[in-house]
Amino acid sequence: MAEIGIDIRKVKALLSAGDVVGIPTETVYGLAGNALDEDAILKIYSVKNRPKFDPLIAHTDSLAKLVKLVKEIPPQAHELAQAFWPGPLTILLEKKTVVPDLLTSGLDRVAVRIPDHPLTLELLSGIEFPLAAPSANPFGYVSPTSAQHVQDQLGEKIPYVLDGGMCRVGLESTIVGFEGEEVIVYRLGGTKVEAIEEVVGKVRIQVNESSNPAAPGMLKSHYSPGRKMILGDIEKNLSELNPKTTGIISFTESFEVSDENLAVLSTAGDLEEAARNIFSALRKMDQPHIEVILSEFLPQEGLGKAINDRLRRAAV
Ligand code: TXA
Ligand code: MG
Repeated sequence: MAEIGIDIRKVKALLSAGDVVGIPTETVYGLAGNALDEDAILKIYSVKNRPKFDPLIAHTDSLAKLVKLVKEIPPQAHELAQAFWPGPLTILLEKKTVVPDLLTSGLDRVAVRIPDHPLTLELLSGIEFPLAAPSANPFGYVSPTSAQHVQDQLGEKIPYVLDGGMCRVGLESTIVGFEGEEVIVYRLGGTKVEAIEEVVGKVRIQVNESSNPAAPGMLKSHYSPGRKMILGDIEKNLSELNPKTTGIISFTESFEVSDENLAVLSTAGDLEEAARNIFSALRKMDQPHIEVILSEFLPQEGLGKAINDRLRRAAV
């Protein structure tokens, strides 16, 4: 089992020696290693059981460090960085040769982000190299939002999980890139599209459904709680099923099933709260007695867009 704690010095030593560890961010927990060290990157792919065609995000704590990784930061990227970093936004930029092809799966752009978590910012400020960090879950499974989630699934394979408590946002970062003057959103996430548009004007949302050359990892089937999941009118669907073996993830309402079969995302109907809870809710449904999960779409606005995206992929 991994040790869980807040010993930043120890984590620095492990990372400097080429090891990989669990780290907290405001979005989800990451499985971190030296982004400039091919052996560390290979370890990440192997611990996650992730195909190497699915590239990784490089995390730093400052623009000064980030400019060493990318050829240039275009004006719109600067504006977005100014507005949202540290925070749940990842930006695709042309990479310098110092960035291993293994990190970007051979693509010309590298995904970069300054995360907003005090422990991880402190960690990053104490190391010279950027950290590659995909979400710390086995490939295809639900992303982790607590140190225990990481322990539960990867604890046998890594030495340490830095414990930063529950993730404040609960959904992965929004990913953006540029085609000429146009800003493209490749993954819906913790930074709302509406907020991005306030900074750079209208964006194009190009979230893939099957395979997208710009973001090959955003596979249609992901975030799988390991059961059949049905989206739609919960009440109606429940009437045709056995409530004992049915799990329910609802936005605001309770249903006639036992507490262990129910997760209400936000009784107050708050989308930020729902975002914080969605991955724990999917995990909660991963119990042997549950055969089917029922859920429903949330309002398609703000973080609701990203939550609906995760539900859709979990249901594939
Ligand atoms: O919030 C987050 O972004 C979390 C925390 C730990 O920072 N990380 C995360 O990483 O969600 P991951 O690996 O689970 O998802 C990263 C996504 C993948 O879908 C991948 O395909 C895409 O980013 N990506 C990474 N590098 C890319 C690149 N160079 N071009 C296009 N897509 C890229
Ligand atoms: Mg992931």
